[in-house]
Amino acid sequence: MRIVFIGPPGAGKGTQSARLVEHLEVPHLSTGDILRQAREDKTDVGLMAAEFIDAGRLVPDSVVVEIVEERIQQPDCAQGCLFDGFPRTLAQAETLDTHLADHGTPIDLVIAVDVPEDVLIARLAARGRDDDILSAIQKRFEQYQSMTKPLLEYYQSKGLLQVVDGTGTPDEVFDRIKAVVDNAVDNA
Ligand code: AP5
Ligand code: MG
Repeated sequence: MRIVFIGPPGAGKGTQSARLVEHLEVPHLSTGDILRQAREDKTDVGLMAAEFIDAGRLVPDSVVVEIVEERIQQPDCAQGCLFDGFPRTLAQAETLDTHLADHGTPIDLVIAVDVPEDVLIARLAARGRDDDILSAIQKRFEQYQSMTKPLLEYYQSKGLLQVVDGTGTPDEVFDRIKAVVDNAVDNA
């Protein structure tokens, strides 16, 4: 299965991805994690991306697309994967669709995790990752609203979108996600 998680910063994409990849036995492809690792490894891409991440701005599409295209061609992704935080712009979504269509392996399901902004801010403030300072959080919300939210309509029009309530405990959220995923598996 190929599943995309969409949601604002702090929605629980990473938390829920960790559970879902165990359930589905597919790799977890988080562009945020890959970019943070590249930064730690001090690669050219990582150092360039760091400036965007710290400011809460999206890294340029061309950079992220190249990372993802390389990753999904690795053998462990042959049976599917879970996209966490990608795509995040219409250009990324269209490029991914073209790539997957060329390989005959389209997206099966898009899960949008819905959480109100006050809850998101409380979660991020409590975590304290490098980009969890208020100015970067605000920028990340803005970027989500303007660049990523339009993807909901894009995937809705393709009949792929399922919106899941992301409030409550991680277990409660996962039960909702599992129900949606198991239903999609049954209908596949
Ligand atoms: P990314 O790493 O994807 O960050 P994000 O989208 O801002 O989201 P987070 O990782 O902060 O939140 P999450 O939804 O994963 O929630 P989590 O499970 O961690 O991207 C970072 C940056 O990289 C971007 O700003 C951009 O610069 C760049 N980037 C990445 N992808 C890109 C792309 N495709 N294009 C361009 N640039 C890109 O949960 C958050 C906290 O809440 C945790 O502490 C968790 O323990 C807690 N929590 C989770 N669920 C619950 C719950 N149910 N109840 C209580 N607490 C909870
Ligand atoms: Mg995350």
